Amino acid sequence: MNTIDTSHIRNFSIIAHIDHGKSTISDRILELTRTVDDRDMASQLLDTMDIERERGITIKSNAVRVMYDADDGETYQFNLIDTPGHVDFTYEVSRSLAACEGAVLVVDATQGVEAQTVSNANLAMNADLDIVPAINKIDLPSAHPDEVKTEIEDELAIPADGAVCVSGKTGEGIHDLLEAIVFLVSPPKGDPSAPLKALILDSYFDEYRGVVATVRVFDGSIKKGDILRMMQGGEDFLVDGVGVKHPAEALVESIGVGEVGFVVTGLKDPEAVHVGDTLTMRDEPCDAPLPGYREAKPMVYTGIFPIDNKDYENLRDALEKLHVNDPSLTWTPETSVALGFGFRVGFLGLLHMEVVKERLEREFGLALIATSPSVDYHVYKTDGTMVEVRSPQDLPDATRIDRIEEPYLKAKIIVPPEYTGAVMQLAIEHRGITTDMIHLSQKSVEMRFDMPLAELILDFFDQLKSRTKGYASLDYEFSDYRASDLVKLDILLSGDEVDALSFIVHKDKAYALARGLCDKLKEIIPRQLFEVPIQGAIGNKIISRSTVKARRKDVLAKCYGGDISRKRKLLEKQKEGKKRMKAIGSVEVPQEAFMAILKVDE
Ligand code: GTP
Repeated sequence: MNTIDTSHIRNFSIIAHIDHGKSTISDRILELTRTVDDRDMASQLLDTMDIERERGITIKSNAVRVMYDADDGETYQFNLIDTPGHVDFTYEVSRSLAACEGAVLVVDATQGVEAQTVSNANLAMNADLDIVPAINKIDLPSAHPDEVKTEIEDELAIPADGAVCVSGKTGEGIHDLLEAIVFLVSPPKGDPSAPLKALILDSYFDEYRGVVATVRVFDGSIKKGDILRMMQGGEDFLVDGVGVKHPAEALVESIGVGEVGFVVTGLKDPEAVHVGDTLTMRDEPCDAPLPGYREAKPMVYTGIFPIDNKDYENLRDALEKLHVNDPSLTWTPETSVALGFGFRVGFLGLLHMEVVKERLEREFGLALIATSPSVDYHVYKTDGTMVEVRSPQDLPDATRIDRIEEPYLKAKIIVPPEYTGAVMQLAIEHRGITTDMIHLSQKSVEMRFDMPLAELILDFFDQLKSRTKGYASLDYEFSDYRASDLVKLDILLSGDEVDALSFIVHKDKAYALARGLCDKLKEIIPRQLFEVPIQGAIGNKIISRSTVKARRKDVLAKCYGGDISRKRKLLEKQKEGKKRMKAIGSVEVPQEAFMAILKVDE
């Protein structure tokens, strides 16, 4: 049962390249529609996670209902879905788009069309959505909205006559944007009296209420007390409540056709609900499930180990709970001689990895060590079999390897013409092969490369930004597997190989990297009571070396006099520092050491 006629519903996502202002515009929309009181208007309302607010990035999509009194005198229900802009989370964007009829495509008036603008616009066009272009940040002196309009037409093939110029900062143009949404985005279609058909677009685990699922209803409706079935998962449950977000949660009678809201399932097993599954009535099922989503494929793997081995089960439990909210996470148990029991966890990219590790630590109170990131190698053995290797320590002995294939990407970089040389140079250094170069306009060139994923996950993006003064934007997708001359580089501390510090590297880069890594580790590993030699080796051959000199560390020496509280403070501080260290043999190694590979300047 709907509280509003479907002709007065508009479901839309806000999509853009990272930092073009999606979350800021969402906030202004909430303000203008008086969804949120001015006094509650903290910045970036839709970024609910601490990490999102601190970093100023959106990680999760978020669905909010606002009511808009339009100029035609009618009241419209907007279901607004904010989406992440970083390339790691493209999957999240496509999930949101499947729940919408329209998309507001935000383009920064000072930056113009960038790589993620192109790929997000393509996602929206492929999903057949009505697109409302919005040119943001027109308050800035360097804004050039007319040129950006031309770029939208030329580079994206989207008509820009209806483009709305806005400022998320001052609120200018936001009213026009809301009018454009009413006018340009189609209302949802669907049959209110047909059997329920609803898409699960997100879910999270709540200690008290069990799994809470965000859904978009296509046919029928949902109310408390209904007995629903998940069509693919097969599980049935009694609806414990339905509601919408304003963005604060509010329970409602029902969620009707075309609407977006949440369903309290009461299910206590975090694995029971799958994002992308279709909900229907147990006793009156619909004919067929919705197409759902393609599975997100992890690109990057790292070992994650609790510093205290007793936390192993807690880590597993935390991963399971996080998985409800982040279905792209995958993991398998992993054992390391150096770090004990942990998991090899698959991520969509490095930012995703950092975010997950931080969430595990903050939301579940775990102290963790992550090892350097790896990709999924296909190792063909001399006996004719193939094994997938996601951790350097699983690499078979060199004598048993016929060849190793690694994942390649198709990378797309959009950059002003004066930086094409710098980008080309950077790509060559990262084993990239140029496949195409297209002049999009006088101000931008699209360069395409085939490049190993393993190169991109190290420092490629930071270098790209610094060598193009921040002008380049990057987008990529998986391409294929190709054979490469790869070797395993081991690191030895005090003569003992530390499995958690090994990694797989291209032969031509092994020497330089081994040297860089030994030097970096020397900076990172604090002086101990004895000398610690650090060596890089391929097989039995040592190829680089550095040494951490011995030092007797007497922290109390500074405390002349008998100020006992000061001594205690110092000792506590030292204890805190120790917590983040891991004893490898007799050497205390800080967490950073395991990520040193990301910090080596080649
Ligand atoms: P992600 O969620 O990380 O993809 O970013 P986003 O697209 O949501 O961008 P966000 O809203 O976080 O804005 C990025 C930055 O641009 C922030 O520092 C905003 O304060 C700033 N910003 C957004 N809109 C405007 C605007 O209209 N004018 C000005 N001057 N700054 C803006």
